Amino acid sequence: MASSRFKMGFKQKLVNQVRKPSGKIGRIIAKGMNKGHAKLAKWGLSKIKIEPNYNILDIGCGGGGNIKHFAEIIVDGKIYGIDYSETAICVSREVNKIYIENGTVEIYNASVSSLPFNDDFFNIVSGFEVYYFWPDLPKDLKEIYRVLKPKGKLILVNEGYLCNNEKKRKKAEKWSKLGQFHIHTPEEYNDLLTKAGFSNIQIFEENKKGWITVIGMKEIR
Ligand SMILES: C[S@@+](CC[C@H](N)C(=O)[O-])C[C@H]1O[C@@H](n2cnc3c(N)ncnc32)[C@H](O)[C@@H]1O
Repeated sequence: MASSRFKMGFKQKLVNQVRKPSGKIGRIIAKGMNKGHAKLAKWGLSKIKIEPNYNILDIGCGGGGNIKHFAEIIVDGKIYGIDYSETAICVSREVNKIYIENGTVEIYNASVSSLPFNDDFFNIVSGFEVYYFWPDLPKDLKEIYRVLKPKGKLILVNEGYLCNNEKKRKKAEKWSKLGQFHIHTPEEYNDLLTKAGFSNIQIFEENKKGWITVIGMKEIR
């Protein structure tokens, strides 16, 4: 009994740190996520074309591993990262020090709900393992839509959704209950993005692993 309470307490603390890394443990978590999410991110990014002149925004950049990946591709464009965790921002800035110094990367403390960017600015907005924690998905998706250029794309890459793989689905449900966060079916993703204004929605599933990548395009006006 005491051991299962200990396990629950540990898992709860872990979810809290993943939701918003803080302090020394948060630094370890943010760095750990760079490694732990690398394969998932690589798979997700294989579904979208990135040109060297793109402006890219990574929302909930955590330890900055994906910003670094983008920075290795972008030549004439710029990569911006935002996160609402001061700890994550610090780790992200350390990981991307060279690219910040050469002007390719900028990282800010901000929330998805109020993005500090002009309308129609980004070719790609990405969110890896982060949409779960957004406070108001319909509004937050519209905020992302605002900062995308016409024909710009949102890409969400997630481990854990309501998939057909029962084992993975149950695991995802367990974590979402513990962390009180959102998880959806592919149809619900499609609905959410459509309602926010996105079109050409593409959904890729890696059923064995329980991974999903969702891409939506901003309408051409
Ligand atoms: C699970 S981590 C993922 C980090 C990184 N994207 C990765 O794949 O390794 C979620 C990150 O999103 C950030 N985050 C959560 N909700 C946010 C929000 N509303 N606005 C900005 N950042 C948020 C957290 O602080 C955390 O760093």
